[in-house]
Amino acid sequence: MKADVLLGLQWGDEGKGKAVDVLTPRYEAVARFQGGPNAGHTLEFGGKKYVLKSIPSGIFQEGKINIIGNGVVIDPALFKQEVDALEKTGNNLTDRLLISRKAHLILPTHRLLDAASERAMGNARIGTTGRGIGPAYTDKVGRHGLRVGDLFLNFEEKYRLAVQRHEKLLEHYRFEYDLPALEKQWFAGIETIKKFTVIDSEHFINRHLDAGGSILAEGAQGSMLDVDFGSYPFVTSSSTVCAGACSGMGIAPGRIGEVYGVFKAYCTRVGSGPFPTELLDADGQQLRDNGREYGSVTGRARRCGWIDLVALRYAIMLNGVTRLVMMKSDVLDSFKTIKACIAYRVDGEETEDFPYDVSGNVEPLYAELPGWKTDMTGMQSEDRFPEKFSRYLSFLEEKLKVPITIVSLGPDRAQTIIRQSRPLREFRKTVRQAAGNQKTAAVRKQEIKI
Ligand code: GDP
Ligand code: IMO
Ligand code: MG
Repeated sequence: MKADVLLGLQWGDEGKGKAVDVLTPRYEAVARFQGGPNAGHTLEFGGKKYVLKSIPSGIFQEGKINIIGNGVVIDPALFKQEVDALEKTGNNLTDRLLISRKAHLILPTHRLLDAASERAMGNARIGTTGRGIGPAYTDKVGRHGLRVGDLFLNFEEKYRLAVQRHEKLLEHYRFEYDLPALEKQWFAGIETIKKFTVIDSEHFINRHLDAGGSILAEGAQGSMLDVDFGSYPFVTSSSTVCAGACSGMGIAPGRIGEVYGVFKAYCTRVGSGPFPTELLDADGQQLRDNGREYGSVTGRARRCGWIDLVALRYAIMLNGVTRLVMMKSDVLDSFKTIKACIAYRVDGEETEDFPYDVSGNVEPLYAELPGWKTDMTGMQSEDRFPEKFSRYLSFLEEKLKVPITIVSLGPDRAQTIIRQSRPLREFRKTVRQAAGNQKTAAVRKQEIKI
């Protein structure tokens, strides 16, 4: 079998968590392959809402294996908080969550370095999530990192040496901190990690695939935050594109199957950096209000704008997307007119290619489409879609050249339509399984008709 990959095509927060949760019934295992607790993946079902940071979004579906892959960076203190919160709600994780020996650890001093660096940069700051992501990946690539496997190999000494190095760097920033307080929670988190099964995940995953097993790889952040192809330097520090799934799980490129590209029907971004279609007017505020666009990790207001098809086409190309998943379509329900950026004008020249530098003189050129002005949140089949919404979907498919196979109409697992018009017969089986797995009455009401 091949591994399918699901990832974000914009600047993160596209709704990957919900999409993974909906697709999980069709897989035996779900694996995260990059990022860390900078991610906030929201799932809603049975009237409850969960935000996952380091734990894969397949964790709530019974009988599935969840893997934290080697490409992920883990903060033990935050990991413990996440595990404790989930266990309190009756979810036992230790028998279904596996952690790669090669995943790197975020040290308390990585968080301090992140904060110190951001403060020192002033107005040029990246606007990171403050989770120590950049410094942890810097140490990984600089060959100074500590890995989960090190916990079992003379760890205290390795930790002290790393902290001494970081303390020297912090002196340079003249940054005040209380390390012992952070270390207390961090070492408690180390004990939590040790309760889990630590594996050589690259062997595990390849053997699983060799034996005909299925796996869904869950991306974090989004393609426009990729360290190589995103709006550098306003990016995260990992490979968020499909290639990152190969290095972050230890699988060969030929083992990648379907690539699900998740996007919002509009566009958002948190933190600093260029955003060509950003709206600073009433439309932007309407998107923020309708979409409740406030960060699931930091609570920051997300910047909002119209969908950007230049950036989306670029992300589809980088990832080899085979199926599109459109989230938050309902957020546009109240708009009279909807705009979609189809090209940029850069220094007087029109282009449909995403340029090297989008921070300067980039003017988005828009197509205008009529809004459908209909509440779609309760719709249970695509036959009910307003004609103008169907036209919006066809317009996007024509521009993006990839079928939109799933449409999300609200945050709940149940508010999801798998499109029947797509040539995806095998998908029906999955959806039947998904329906079979639904337990609560609220969820049973849904759905996903086949
Ligand atoms: P992720 O990081 O890509 O998993 O996305 P987040 O969880 O950070 O942000 C997506 C937000 O949109 C969450 O609050 C979800 O509950 C919510 N959401 C997901 N799908 C939909 C949808 O179709 N409609 C609406 N209104 N909200 C959605
Ligand atoms: P999910 O997985 C949205 C952004 C930060 C900042 C930049 C660098 O929930 O989609 P970092 O802390 O990674 O060094 O911050 O990247 N960022 C995200 N934005 N969603 C995310 O994750 C993000 N993870 C990081 O806001 O601009
Ligand atoms: Mg998020």
